[in-house]
Amino acid sequence: AEDGAVVLGVARGDQACGEFGHGRMLEASELLEELIAYLAPKPLLGQRVLVTAGPTFEAIDPVRGITNLSSGKMGFAIARAAREAGADVTLIAGPVHLPTPRGVQRIDVDSASNMLSAATQRAQSATIFIATAAVADWRPAQAADHKIKKDGSGEARQLSFVENPDILAEIAHSPRAQSGELYCVGFAAESENLEANAQAKRARKGVPLLVANIGPATFGRDDNALLLVDDEGVLELPHASKRVLAQQLIAEIARRVSGLEA
Ligand code: C5P
Repeated sequence: AEDGAVVLGVARGDQACGEFGHGRMLEASELLEELIAYLAPKPLLGQRVLVTAGPTFEAIDPVRGITNLSSGKMGFAIARAAREAGADVTLIAGPVHLPTPRGVQRIDVDSASNMLSAATQRAQSATIFIATAAVADWRPAQAADHKIKKDGSGEARQLSFVENPDILAEIAHSPRAQSGELYCVGFAAESENLEANAQAKRARKGVPLLVANIGPATFGRDDNALLLVDDEGVLELPHASKRVLAQQLIAEIARRVSGLEA
């Protein structure tokens, strides 16, 4: 390593000798991911990127809650692409079943409130914030301490909800974001009028760049299509895998951030 060689591994896990620990070769897929990252152009070198991804889970009681169908795939692909582009990446993930991209620091959270705490803390040192999480708009006003039992009466049960904090809007209105030290990117899952809704959302959230997609056409899928809306106008990234779209989006973000610095 002192001679400049890049050493991949070692991995930790079950060893052929029967012991557990460091000493395994990385899996082939991990070696491939590392090689791709090593060879990729590095337009985000020196940047600290913060990504939120996946759904949130809002507890009703200790065994139930409300959530949504976000898979987290787009956010995880963006975290991976940002790391490949040379950034130091933190990924704040709601409950999803996805492996952590290599070289990315992952923080697992459940509720929107917990996601907000983790994100505001990390946003203090980040230079780019990309909010892809499908944060629940509401949470039960009060989570019960014990499992709520049915009483057999057949009567409707009432639950009341309160609005969750808007993580993106809060961070986008922070002094660091307002002064340009932190570049914020929002997502919008729409079901119609993509461009008009995206423009309105960009203004409402106070972000320089908003990325729109058709919600029902992307949730859980491996492919997507994106519409980037910013001061320059509208740019369409046509239908492709989330992996390819994430790389294209990161290149677009890098172009805008380096334009700010120039
Ligand atoms: O308002 P809406 O949910 O459509 O906005 C979507 C964008 O705002 C996404 O970038 C999402 O991650 C972010 N968001 C958030 N906190 C919320 C709601 C949305 O960060 N409570």
